[in-house]
Amino acid sequence: MNPLRLIGTALCCVAIVFGGLTFSSDAQLDPNFYIRSCPQLQSIVYQILSNVATKDPRMPASLIRLHFHDCFVQGCDASVLLNTTDTIVTEQDALPNINSLRGLDVINQIKTAIEIACPHTVSCADILTLSAEISSVLTGGPGWLVPLGRRDSLTANQSLANINLPGPSFSLTQLKSAFADQGLTTRDLVSLSGAHTFGKSRCFLFSDRLYNFNNTGKPDPTLDTTYLKELQKQCPEDGPGDNRVNFDPTTPNRLDKNYYNNLQVKKGLLQSDQELFSTPGADTIAIVNRFANNKIVFFKNFKKSMIKMGNIGVLTGTKGEIRKQCNFINKESSELDLATVTSTESIEGGVVSSI
Ligand code: HEM
Ligand SMILES: *[C@@H]1O[C@H](CO)[C@@H](O)[C@H](O)[C@H]1NC(C)=O
Ligand SMILES: *[C@@H]1O[C@H](CO)[C@@H](O)[C@H](O)[C@H]1NC(C)=O
Ligand SMILES: *[C@@H]1O[C@H](CO)[C@@H](O)[C@H](O)[C@H]1NC(C)=O
Repeated sequence: MNPLRLIGTALCCVAIVFGGLTFSSDAQLDPNFYIRSCPQLQSIVYQILSNVATKDPRMPASLIRLHFHDCFVQGCDASVLLNTTDTIVTEQDALPNINSLRGLDVINQIKTAIEIACPHTVSCADILTLSAEISSVLTGGPGWLVPLGRRDSLTANQSLANINLPGPSFSLTQLKSAFADQGLTTRDLVSLSGAHTFGKSRCFLFSDRLYNFNNTGKPDPTLDTTYLKELQKQCPEDGPGDNRVNFDPTTPNRLDKNYYNNLQVKKGLLQSDQELFSTPGADTIAIVNRFANNKIVFFKNFKKSMIKMGNIGVLTGTKGEIRKQCNFINKESSELDLATVTSTESIEGGVVSSI
């Protein structure tokens, strides 16, 4: 063995020892995973997302949420992207997702561009994870090196999506438990909830707080009264319930620390948001205050928790597959190709180019 190779092996072992101490779960993921096989990956994703964000400034928020809804259901394996077929029951129709997920088309657009540059190389799960990080950068949030090398699932699980994804009326105890089920701590809960600093929520998900909280016939007492009036205007009591309201009234499309400052003045939008600050005696109050006072500390924690969330239940090595089309497992997408080819010859959206 030549000396350089020996040094390489030695360094590698040191890396494994130290890596193993801090990130045992992502031992197989690596920010340089595609450095040879798809060096253009980051720049393609960045290019597409910066264009999309100019036209649709809410999209970065939607993509970060899509990644979260992927990771909490059998891991970050792009299961959320799978459409219903003979063998798949889509997670997109689970209660927290239905009529609510955005960005599926953007992920497909990125996948199509990547398939041209680096055919059959990059997983949909990695594209989604990388899109979340770039979405943070594009909205003023932190950037980080994204560990890569995830593979795509062969299954989806709609009922698991209904079980695992937290609800907007969850108490702090329920929130902590939903995160603990994913190996995430209370601190992760507080830092990741900071993603509610941008994007929107539909009224019916919190309107009980405005009119009849907990069957008291009164508004939620932990809601600022001026903010309450603004929200009542945007969400009339007998309205349709699907009006959309900004999570952050001041900087609706920015990933900043405002979320925590809003909680301090009783301007959390969802009950699950305000619980972090208004639950008497809670250990989350000090964390909210810390993040509200210091953007650098919040960003540091947000990065760390996003990487941790991105490592949940990942498929690596020979598990799963690299999908050709993010909405279908390969077996089904090749059946689809054949069916479409024989019936029409006219194919849309990169399905045929993947044969
Ligand atoms: C802590 C528990 C959480 C609950 C109960 C929760 C609940 C919700 C709800 C009800 C909505 C509005 C959906 C709609 O109108 O259809 C929403 C939107 C959103 N959530 Fe969460 N969420 C939680 C955690 C997270 C996490 C961990 C992230 C990401 C790290 C996240 C990112 C977002 C974003 C960015 C939006 C806005 C999406 C858009 O405008 O398209 N949420 N969330
Ligand atoms: C997958 O389903 C979504 C709706 O849930 C639809 O908009 C999209 O066109 C479907 N994708 C394909 C490739 O059929
Ligand atoms: C979905 O998850 C539930 C709960 O963990 C499990 O019982 C069920 O077998 C899973 N279904 C599929 C299709 O994987
Ligand atoms: C709702 O009401 C029940 C019983 O009246 C009470 O035990 C519970 O603490 C209340 N929940 C909240 C969030 O105020």
